[in-house]
Amino acid sequence: MKGKKRLAEIIILCMGMYVLCACSKQKVPVSDKIYVGITCYDQSDTFLSELLVCFKEELKILNQKGIETTMTVRNADRSQRVQNDQVKELINAGCNVLCVNLVDRADPSEIIDVAKEHDVPIIFFNREPVAEDMKQWDKLYYVGADAKQSGVLQGELAVEMIQKNSQIDHNKDGKIQYVVLEGEAGHQDAIIRTENAVDTLNQKGIELEKLSYQIANWNRAQAQNRMEQILGQYKNRVELVLANNDDMALGAMDAYKKLNYTEAVLPVFIGIDGTDMGLKAVEDSMMAGTVYNDKEGQARAIAELSAALVTGEEDKIEFSKGNYIYLPYSKVTKENVHEYLN
Ligand code: GAL
Ligand code: CA
Repeated sequence: MKGKKRLAEIIILCMGMYVLCACSKQKVPVSDKIYVGITCYDQSDTFLSELLVCFKEELKILNQKGIETTMTVRNADRSQRVQNDQVKELINAGCNVLCVNLVDRADPSEIIDVAKEHDVPIIFFNREPVAEDMKQWDKLYYVGADAKQSGVLQGELAVEMIQKNSQIDHNKDGKIQYVVLEGEAGHQDAIIRTENAVDTLNQKGIELEKLSYQIANWNRAQAQNRMEQILGQYKNRVELVLANNDDMALGAMDAYKKLNYTEAVLPVFIGIDGTDMGLKAVEDSMMAGTVYNDKEGQARAIAELSAALVTGEEDKIEFSKGNYIYLPYSKVTKENVHEYLN
């Protein structure tokens, strides 16, 4: 009798332990409110400010679905030190997910350490950390786009235009004299875009003559300045301007306008991003084309991933690879620009 009772006790104990184990395996939602802390490398950057507008829209959509969200945005103003402090402040203020647009994409360690210490996941976006750093913790994510693809598509746009219009080769020497306006040194979207755009032109058999490469830090005014210098040296010899983003393509156009160049000598301008102004310039036939950087898609991915990380529903998220989500780029010309204008 005693033995039977003992056996019953052991069975009950085992069942209890099984239930306990099963429970701990289930994902327990940490919180049902999403407190997003965002820090941006520079809020005056056109593409990022437009991306933030989209992100706010996405959070509204989540709110309408009954998911409560609040967000706090900080501008790091191009200082990594300031951004590190902002991350600490956001964590102290109770944020349960961080969205970080790194100032220095090669220097995220301090941010990762504090986030890890407080167990707050990080979604990096737009400025991709180096792969090694992404391995520092399993709660690090990245949302952005494939830099190589944007370069290839920009190169293809240029090829299509050059093949369609023999007038682009102004001096009829069989070569396209070109300049490149580059983003920041060390940014994944600068050097990779340039390389792949130029490689694509070469591969498609377009003969090129490089006149000048200038860094203009994504910035319209800096690009205008660089382009004025280039024009001082090369006058009306430039036939193609490849810009790593729309703002710099627009800046190059500003330089031609300021120096009163006639329409007949204008080169072909091609940008990347499809910002509001960029799309407008394509619509107005000022810019020949651009490559759309899907800010709506990126904003949606960041918002949905933020919510999933907080509520423990990460398995519902579709990743491109590992902890990465890449949204595709697409080509925009006068023919299809209406699909992109609001
Ligand atoms: C790029 C974008 C640029 C600039 C940069 C900032 O993806 O094309 O316009 O916003 O990010 O990191
Ligand atoms: Ca030529």
